[in-house]
Amino acid sequence: MTRSLIRPMDAAAIKDAAAMIRDGRLVAFATETVYGLGGDATNANAVAAIFAAKGRPSFNPLISHVAETADAAKLGLMDARADALAAKFWPGPLTLVLPKSAACPVAQLTTAGLGSIAVRVPSAPMARDFIAAAGVPIAAPSANRSGAMSPTRARHVQDSLPGPDEGGPQLILDGGACGVGLESTVVDLTSDATTLLRPGGLAIEDIEAVIGPLLIAGSDDTAPKSPGMLSRHYAPTLPLRINADAPHAGDVFLGFADVFTPGGLNLSAAGDVNEAAANLFDMLHALDQSGATGIAVAPIPDIGLGRAINDRLRRAVTR
Ligand code: TXA
Ligand code: MG
Repeated sequence: MTRSLIRPMDAAAIKDAAAMIRDGRLVAFATETVYGLGGDATNANAVAAIFAAKGRPSFNPLISHVAETADAAKLGLMDARADALAAKFWPGPLTLVLPKSAACPVAQLTTAGLGSIAVRVPSAPMARDFIAAAGVPIAAPSANRSGAMSPTRARHVQDSLPGPDEGGPQLILDGGACGVGLESTVVDLTSDATTLLRPGGLAIEDIEAVIGPLLIAGSDDTAPKSPGMLSRHYAPTLPLRINADAPHAGDVFLGFADVFTPGGLNLSAAGDVNEAAANLFDMLHALDQSGATGIAVAPIPDIGLGRAINDRLRRAVTR
């Protein structure tokens, strides 16, 4: 088993890594918070590969990393709060969840089908150089196996993730130990109630000094069900039936492998769960707008990304 190659994060390595990203491959890289496992956020297959490499049991929406605030404003709608926070804390360990812009090029899988998008401009200069060189927003969760600790050194990444032959990163860009060592603070700006979704490397007090008090997601003594939490999981508006062998009257059918119907869609004719993951949210959105009265989904094998697909489909059923 070959392990992922570690290279010092210099100009030559950054150039090679940027080409790999544009080619749809994965690169782990240092930021000031933790190492990220990066892929082209506009390429659903690359993003599916990120989930597969981490062994995540479900699709959480990922952060899209950009080099400049102006690039963030192309992905999400920035209001006065976003402008104020960006002016003060970007580049830096702050992630903003914004309503997706109409022309947002980021893949549905990156945002797990949500109408919102998480964006961040990291402050590590090499990380910004890498993102700028790639020329696309880079989706990057922490570069560790699901459930393991976040990596703050290149060696941690190499020890935690599979090698390139097993779906892990092609390359690890070694920027030394991460200065902050904690994930970014995540703030939801999709509603008027500014809500802290995850405490992290930027102190809450510093944020409150700029835009006033934050609601804390999950502690609902201050607010009736913080609005930021309502839409954290995408589900179609049509009723959904899973593990279906065939459509009922009025259903559109979402197939897998050789279980499909003419007129329906097929997550992966080849029976490839990674391809199915890359197609999942696009196809659910399309079928939700098809004018049918329900969506029936073929059985998906519970292996690899199939587990994450089934997790998401089950949540959509019981929503
Ligand atoms: O410091 C960091 O943030 C690192 C480095 C690599 O930048 N990245 C990281 O990503 O920690 P990840 O995927 O492990 O965490 C992303 C967080 C999760 O808590 C996720 O639920 C939240 O951001 N998030 C992302 N998109 C969201 C959205 N549209 N709505 C609500 N929460 C979102
Ligand atoms: Mg993590």
